Amino acid sequence: MRILSGIQPSGKLHIGNYFGMMRPAIELQEQGQAYLFIANYHALTTVTDPEVLRAWTWDVALDFLACGLDPERTVFFRQSDVPEVTELSWLLSIVTPMGLLERCHSYKDKTAKGITPSHGLFAYPVLMAADILAVQATVVPVGRDQKQHVEVTRDLAIKFNHQYGEIFTVPEPSIREHVAVVPGVDGQKMSKSYNNHIELFGSKKETKSRVMRIVTDSTPLEDPKDPDTCNVFALYKLFADEAEQQAMADQYRAGDFGYGTAKKALFEKLWDYFEPFRARREALAADPDFVESVLQRGAAKARIEAGKTLQAARKAMGLA
Ligand code: ADP
Ligand code: TRP
Repeated sequence: MRILSGIQPSGKLHIGNYFGMMRPAIELQEQGQAYLFIANYHALTTVTDPEVLRAWTWDVALDFLACGLDPERTVFFRQSDVPEVTELSWLLSIVTPMGLLERCHSYKDKTAKGITPSHGLFAYPVLMAADILAVQATVVPVGRDQKQHVEVTRDLAIKFNHQYGEIFTVPEPSIREHVAVVPGVDGQKMSKSYNNHIELFGSKKETKSRVMRIVTDSTPLEDPKDPDTCNVFALYKLFADEAEQQAMADQYRAGDFGYGTAKKALFEKLWDYFEPFRARREALAADPDFVESVLQRGAAKARIEAGKTLQAARKAMGLA
């Protein structure tokens, strides 16, 4: 099994990203050859300040390494260090029907939100297909929002193979339907674009203040409460073991238990959970040469694979 996934450095990562994408991707490194990359070419479609893009890219590198990505097992790289994907993306665009891209939800959603409708934004799924096909990935773990892009990738691989010969492995998406969407402090899906997120490595003060702001209903302190409809409890469940969850659910149902107390318990759990990662992140941040060398080694390995695929595609199309 060859696994590939990427994440855009379009902001600081939050606990929704951690439980929805980072942890599952890190767990998959045990099951096959994994490629994980920081999609900074993709982030260019929305991040326009070069210094900000550089800083967020670095943050994502530190976050993944701190949270357990093992660079000895997983090929970890910056997308822009593997320029082969941009050439492959052009070759794939030749077999990309306009209608296929016009049907993509993410382009429509992003332009509806006010993002400038550029060619890069429109062609985004073709570059994503190049990322995946370049390393001949068999499995692509993504959130539900990215499923359509993996379907586009499959269509392009099949079309190219039919027209020019069997060059690409047709990948399967691996959608983590079972990972509940992590709610934000306002109860909607946690997302940096809604500013309802809790950063993975925010300061203690900021993290606590976000937790204390979680929206709850106005049930009086003494009344019984329903844990299953409460955002605080939904987040607590991510960090607590079965017995701890049961104990808190019992307190909710018994009454005389305020949301403030539940929030404090959640904050303690959350802060302790990330404590070892925080320590590792500080050590990594103090050793930028090591982090850079991990990314460079990863890129060198990815370039070998991508280069082989690109050569095969060029030859098949009559370029080489
Ligand atoms: P954001 O919504 O904050 O911009 P992205 O769209 O960049 O996050 O998502 C990056 C990855 O994290 C994707 O794989 C996505 O499925 C996952 N993800 C983002 N938010 C959540 C959430 N609230 N719950 C679960 N997974 C999430
Ligand atoms: N589009 C993905 C997202 O926004 C990031 C991404 C880029 C990606 N290339 C990829 C994910 C290739 C999986 C495979 O989350």
